[in-house]
Amino acid sequence: MNVYDSDRMADVLAPLGYGLVETPEHADMVILNTCHIREKAAEKVYSELGRLRLLKNAREQDGGQMILAVAGCVAQAEGEEILDRAPYVDIVFGPQTYHRLGEMVARASRAGAKGARVLDTDFPTEAKFDHLPANTKGARDGDGRTAFLTVQEGCDKFCAFCVVPYTRGAEYSRPAADVLAEAARLAEGGVREITLLGQNVNNYHGAEPHAHDEPDAVWGLGRLIAAVAEIGGVERIRYTTSYPADVDEDLINAHAQVPALMPFLHLPVQSGSDTVLKAMNRRHNADDYRRLVDRLRAARPDLGLSSDFIVGFPGETDDDFATTMKLVEEIGFVQAYSFKYSPRPGTPAALMDTQVDEAVKSERLAALQDLLNAQQRAFNQPCIGQTLDVLLDRAGRDPGQLVGRSPYMQAVHVDGVGLELGTIVGLRITAGHANSLTGVLAGANTERATA
Ligand code: 5AD
Ligand code: SF4
Repeated sequence: MNVYDSDRMADVLAPLGYGLVETPEHADMVILNTCHIREKAAEKVYSELGRLRLLKNAREQDGGQMILAVAGCVAQAEGEEILDRAPYVDIVFGPQTYHRLGEMVARASRAGAKGARVLDTDFPTEAKFDHLPANTKGARDGDGRTAFLTVQEGCDKFCAFCVVPYTRGAEYSRPAADVLAEAARLAEGGVREITLLGQNVNNYHGAEPHAHDEPDAVWGLGRLIAAVAEIGGVERIRYTTSYPADVDEDLINAHAQVPALMPFLHLPVQSGSDTVLKAMNRRHNADDYRRLVDRLRAARPDLGLSSDFIVGFPGETDDDFATTMKLVEEIGFVQAYSFKYSPRPGTPAALMDTQVDEAVKSERLAALQDLLNAQQRAFNQPCIGQTLDVLLDRAGRDPGQLVGRSPYMQAVHVDGVGLELGTIVGLRITAGHANSLTGVLAGANTERATA
């Protein structure tokens, strides 16, 4: 979500003459786009700001100016505190306000060294999308062949550990017509893979396009995916991130019926213990999750699953943790993210008096990550010798090398001679590494030595 927001901030600033640079040293403006989801991420903001302050001072000594801005969810949650703790910051703005960034920059640069500072942390989600310039370039992580497209923002689920409902605000789904128009523009600009984004993306319920007869008619995510798949040039669709209790029949059918929908799904479960899930205020138990996975796999037998896990949620016992390990063993994930519970200000779980000892959290995290890593290896290893369809989306680090993604989001490196960015090619996998694979063009008869 932050990558998408950063790209859109660049779109807002382009008409003012700002362009992206690779490093902050000589920038006229630096925007730190921040994440508040866990304590570690939030803490980084202040250390990063300390470093940027030195660059700003150096610029000012040379008679120049560097506008320093803090964006995103730390800005939303700690706006005033940032202005107090870091008096050299010029602008602090939340994730729902960056369509007004032009005005903010104008105010801050007029103020110059005199120090009029701007704080904007309103919540007008709808207005934001209405006032953003058209998104025409894809830049998920490569050369514009893959793109994020926000279809839904905010969250009303209030999981007891999570700050998102407070920092990103209430749920809002963009009208389907707007999403389709943005998808079509991205495809025209060369994007081949679109990831539909939302904090709770599968609760998407956007206004139907052309719903004149039934003004209240809405599309769910399954219907939206089917419509995006019809757009010429869109070859792959993904969506993230999902809430298990909101997966409906239409979405499951989309996995069976829409070939462009990739067979890889990030479906956070958080814990395998029903007691913990209840305390987390999740609206599913472990068996609901198992049944849901069964239905999804019936629709798409080659589906690869990813998930999020929190260990050491307040009150989690050894037995609770053991049930999480059991669930992971049963389901089998192709990759996953796991975190120690991190108390967040303003959330109910932070106030629970059953906080788990840090050492216990670390032990549980290590055990869970060992298991998840072993599952990831067990998924990657048999890929060697097989052919995977890879969308080549960026240049690799070595000269002439290209990198792409398999349907399962595995990064695959290949010698790019004769290959074109933005195409999907069958690559025979020749080697597996910790976080990536190496392949050669399937059918090519040159055997290559592999790292
Ligand atoms: N502590 C640890 N992990 C958290 N997450 C969200 N809030 C917290 C927290 N307070 C994790 C969840 C979520 C992912 C994006 O971050 O697993 O799915
Ligand atoms: Fe946070 Fe996701 Fe729960 Fe919403 S559904 S409160 S974003 S963890």
